[in-house]
Amino acid sequence: MKIGDVQLKSEILFAPIAGFSDVGFRHLCARYGAGVTYTELVSAKGLVYGNKGTDELIATTDIETPCAVQLFGSDPEYMYRAASDERLAKFDIVDINMGCPVKKVFSNGDGCAVMQYPSLVTELVQAAAEGSKKPVTVKMRAGVAGIPLAVECAVAAQRGGAAAVTVHPRYREQFYSGRADHSVTRAVKAAVSIPVIANGDIVDASSLEAVRAQSGADAFMVARGALGRPYIFSELAGKPYEFDVREAVRTQVRVMREVMSDRVVANLMKMHMCYYFKGENCAKQVRVAAGEAKCVEDIFAIADAFAKR
Ligand SMILES: Cc1cc2nc3c(=O)[nH]c(=O)nc-3n(C[C@H](O)[C@H](O)[C@H](O)COP(=O)(O)O)c2cc1C
Repeated sequence: MKIGDVQLKSEILFAPIAGFSDVGFRHLCARYGAGVTYTELVSAKGLVYGNKGTDELIATTDIETPCAVQLFGSDPEYMYRAASDERLAKFDIVDINMGCPVKKVFSNGDGCAVMQYPSLVTELVQAAAEGSKKPVTVKMRAGVAGIPLAVECAVAAQRGGAAAVTVHPRYREQFYSGRADHSVTRAVKAAVSIPVIANGDIVDASSLEAVRAQSGADAFMVARGALGRPYIFSELAGKPYEFDVREAVRTQVRVMREVMSDRVVANLMKMHMCYYFKGENCAKQVRVAAGEAKCVEDIFAIADAFAKR
């Protein structure tokens, strides 16, 4: 499977997830065979103006290949300037976020709000493609306020030169609840000639097969199903793998520490620790301990105390 001229490592991709797609966790997902890893959403304007924290978001490691940077914004001029920024040269793909439902983003006309204006969709893709000279993709939802927009938005993205589109078929108002309706993904697939990536509710082999059958998509993207389970990419590919939570935590932290302060690392790791132990008998104890963690050493101590031996 290719996106533009970029050969993917597999057809199962790791989604952008704000607060979780840090460089350390993406490193683990790539190691376990994610076909592409995406940064969390990065403001095109923020990148241009050198906002604090942007460099942490766009850090990558060598095994993250191919990797995509996800930009959000609704001004083609800033989209062009961000996409042409030298700091993004290491990315293979530029993805544009047209799915974020959060009020702060939406009310600014960004994220999912862009879907309401097909000509803007085309312009943003054109601007990113001109700026980056890389394949540009768009990640979108089913629509806004019950109005289906995915097909129109995908066609508009293709018109602008998009190399692929990802469909997370929930409406903006659903945020992440309810079932993803992959008949929407199928309708998009029928309407465009570029690859279509299906996202939403893929958590194991049987849900992957269900989404494959329902959507007819070319590739598949996992978000929440990978939290605490970066090995899901090996699992879904039917490849043997080993997972030791103590090793995973230490590797993730080591990679994060190269670009983040220990305070930021410890804070981000709190939520990851809850996911690493989710569903286990000790899950509640881990949540309490993670809530009280003050530093990276506290995070390591949780991994050591609760890992099965
Ligand atoms: C906490 C959280 C943060 C997210 N951040 C992003 C983001 O930065 N960019 C994006 O395109 N989607 C984001 N998403 C949406 C996911 O990429 C994905 O589309 C959605 O969770 C559905 O996939 P899933 O059912 O596999 O979780 C986020 C989702 C969650 C739950």
